[in-house]
Amino acid sequence: MHKRKVKERVYWLGAIDWDRRLFDSLIPLPDGTTYNAYLVQGSEKTALLDTVDPPETEVLMGELAGVDKIDFVVSHHAEQDHSGAIPRVLERFPEARVLVTPKAKGMLMDLLRIPEDTFVTVEDGETLSLGDKTLKFIHTPWVHWPETMVTYLEEDRILFSCDFFGSHIATSDLFVTDPGRVYEAAKRYFAEIMMPFRGVIEKNLEKLKGYDIQMIAPSHGQIYDRPDWIMEAYRDWVVGAPRNLVVLPFVSMHGSTRQLVDGLASRLAGHGVSVELFNLTVTDIGKLAMALVDAATVVVGAPTVLAGPHPLAAYATLLANALRPKAKYLSIVGSYGWGGKTVETLAGMIPNLKVEVLEPVLCRGGSSGTALEAVDRLAGTIADKHRENGFT
Ligand code: FEO
Repeated sequence: MHKRKVKERVYWLGAIDWDRRLFDSLIPLPDGTTYNAYLVQGSEKTALLDTVDPPETEVLMGELAGVDKIDFVVSHHAEQDHSGAIPRVLERFPEARVLVTPKAKGMLMDLLRIPEDTFVTVEDGETLSLGDKTLKFIHTPWVHWPETMVTYLEEDRILFSCDFFGSHIATSDLFVTDPGRVYEAAKRYFAEIMMPFRGVIEKNLEKLKGYDIQMIAPSHGQIYDRPDWIMEAYRDWVVGAPRNLVVLPFVSMHGSTRQLVDGLASRLAGHGVSVELFNLTVTDIGKLAMALVDAATVVVGAPTVLAGPHPLAAYATLLANALRPKAKYLSIVGSYGWGGKTVETLAGMIPNLKVEVLEPVLCRGGSSGTALEAVDRLAGTIADKHRENGFT
């Protein structure tokens, strides 16, 4: 790819990773991703904003082939998918200084062994003149690491947001062409990466309200040339009320837990409550995370194996605890053969969740009339709770 014009003397550089299917050895990337860097050429100085993932370093260096000088490398975020090529950029442009938050400096020294005297730290709100273009650095901690910041290019009113507002989509289109597709990908990204930090993201969204942002250029996915909708979507995901939705991740070994899950889903639907089922043996964890953005209630379907919850149910519970969704209620349904501590174990795995735990339904062996009556009561309780809270 060659460098591509975003605005006058503002260019996209970077790599399109069409093949990548997993991030952090954890997060599915069904649509690949991009690593976006940007070149801002002022009348006096030139800045490179972020770089690319280490395996794509030579792609970036090829795009920089015709660039005579880089005075500054702005590193918004120390994670290597954006910072990984900085050492190679500094080899080619040894005079460049790396601009970072104070926290990022230490992290980049640890992660990439960049010498200390290469860095210049910038304070929140500090500006840097490139001549006829001015960069303003805005600290946005915990989006999604403690050192993160964004840059506002004042004259062009572009926000370079790094991971903030990002989406994992490999595409050759520079700007958003299909908002529906990008909404889905950005929500998946939010769910997997940003959701645990909703509180600080809300503060960072407030902070950005004071800026006239005409374009958001993230470091993953396409550039938003009409950014209002993605900022509004973030507000909804962060502070919007949960929906009248039950998310039901489950696993079933011999069909008994499945009977309870299907019974619960059917009864909830009868009460007008939406349900999304995720069979953990086949589900895309990203889809489950997206559903957790909206769910008012989570019910884990877990059979007992080796005296505890099935490991896949434990994994989903651990994940939900880590992602800290805004769900208000949680319950468990499942079956067992002769005993075990499934409920106690799962309940002990959710210290981060501010949920009311509703009476679980566990049955010995196949689902019985008694168990289905309990499922019926659970569905009614959930529907009542949702109604009382006004979840729609
Ligand atoms: Fe895209 Fe947090 O790195």
